[in-house]
Amino acid sequence: MTVEDSLRAIVGESHLLVDPDLRAPYETDWTRRFTGTARCVVRPSSTAEVAAVVRACAAAGVPMVVQGGNTGLVGGGVPTGSEVLVSLTRLADLDPVDVLESQVTVGAGVTLEKLQAHARAAGLDFGVDLAARSAATVGGLVATNAGGIRVLRYGSMRAQLTGLEAVLADGTVVRRLTGLAKDNTGYDLVQLLAGSEGTLGIVTRVRVRLVPRLPARSVALVGLAGTEEALAVLTRARARLTTLAAAEVCYADGVALVRDYAKLPAPFRADFPAYLLLECAAGADPTDELLALLGDSDEVGDATVASDPAGRTRLWAYREAHTEAISAAGVPVKLDVSVPLGELPGLVAELPSTVEKIAPGARTLLFGHLNEGNLHVNILDGGPHAADLTDAVLHLVAAHRGSISSEHGVGRAKARWLALSRSAEEIATMCRIKAALDPTGILNPGVLLTAGK
Ligand code: FAD
Ligand code: MLT
Ligand code: ZN
Repeated sequence: MTVEDSLRAIVGESHLLVDPDLRAPYETDWTRRFTGTARCVVRPSSTAEVAAVVRACAAAGVPMVVQGGNTGLVGGGVPTGSEVLVSLTRLADLDPVDVLESQVTVGAGVTLEKLQAHARAAGLDFGVDLAARSAATVGGLVATNAGGIRVLRYGSMRAQLTGLEAVLADGTVVRRLTGLAKDNTGYDLVQLLAGSEGTLGIVTRVRVRLVPRLPARSVALVGLAGTEEALAVLTRARARLTTLAAAEVCYADGVALVRDYAKLPAPFRADFPAYLLLECAAGADPTDELLALLGDSDEVGDATVASDPAGRTRLWAYREAHTEAISAAGVPVKLDVSVPLGELPGLVAELPSTVEKIAPGARTLLFGHLNEGNLHVNILDGGPHAADLTDAVLHLVAAHRGSISSEHGVGRAKARWLALSRSAEEIATMCRIKAALDPTGILNPGVLLTAGK
């Protein structure tokens, strides 16, 4: 009996995909940079089926690659060849919201958008938001410890987690879904799985905390002379605005590309080198305090503010459409880094010439989550030099005391460079944890930790 026969017996004929055309959407990532061939795609619908799938693969010694919504940007969820691709999108059940605890338990395959709608229907909200909300799954968000546009207010995915259930590499199911606010009973297995990128276990169910629904929102798009000016306004906003919910940065060339792609008008009469988007959210309209802050900020070159939903969406588009606009222009070399805030202006200034030296004529587009010093570095027309560009940019980031992955994870894209951000002792400890939980290395081989490390 082949492993395909065993998997078919577990999930049924229609949820084992062996035909190349049916496998194809799972085999290439969102960016189109990472692609490979899976032995087959298996789509279990319950924790019991996931555990049976894992046991069958383990018994046959066949490696697996784990996939949620396939919106990851570091190649961690696509195969390299001959793995069984385990897709979790059918684990899509939503428990009723526990209003007393302000928590909810959902299946790993639930999309972020569905979780947000579920929380809002109960008068609450979910603390993580990002532009891939319609496809990114809760399991993927946990596995990558996703960040996004609300980290300033609520922290990243890790901070929302109160419990989870996962299937380990031998089929063992570990479950901790009580959601107790205080619970000091040993190693925190829930947090160990967060950010483990599918290398330690397959997340099947997740319990998260919910946050108050804040219906009154105000968004400002601000034109500025550069990153230092954006940081000055942010510092003042953090000190004065208790309602501050987001602070995002982008630059002239990225905004021009977005305008062209999304057919958006110029936000101001003049162009500016840098743009800062601030959002405030509260129970009552925060527009006045946002306007007062802008009025007191000499750095502001021009600003436009919207508090109605359509106006806010229009302003957010200048920032949120960057990923799609860049992708429409080509397959970028995509890097996601963070540095201490004091280092950010220097990094922004040095990146274009670092890229130009390696790939003359390539375009460097920068944008990101300003409050966390999180810069998304996207290089267009640099594809043939991808490895050299990655090496140079990540070394520059390390020289600025930064991290090679701020929020997207390490995946396959950056596994070679992990030592730029983590010490030899830390990496050795991670390898020991990996070896303890997945001794034969069948879960997401080559992701996060390079083989043989
Ligand atoms: P996948 O892409 O399917 O997988 C990602 C990783 O998680 C892989 O290593 C995979 O093996 C593992 N994995 C997936 N599901 C499970 C599971 N159930 N158990 C164990 N491991 C699993 N990310 C941010 O952090 N912030 C942003 O602002 C942001 N914006 C984005 C905007 C766009 C337009 C796009 C396309 C992506 C963006 N991302 C962002 C990246 C991406 O959406 C996140 O990394 C997200 O968490 C991935 O979820 P997914 O379900 O698509 O995971
Ligand atoms: C974002 O903040 O828009 C993302 O993380 C996606 C990207 O880096 O392209
Ligand atoms: Zn981001």
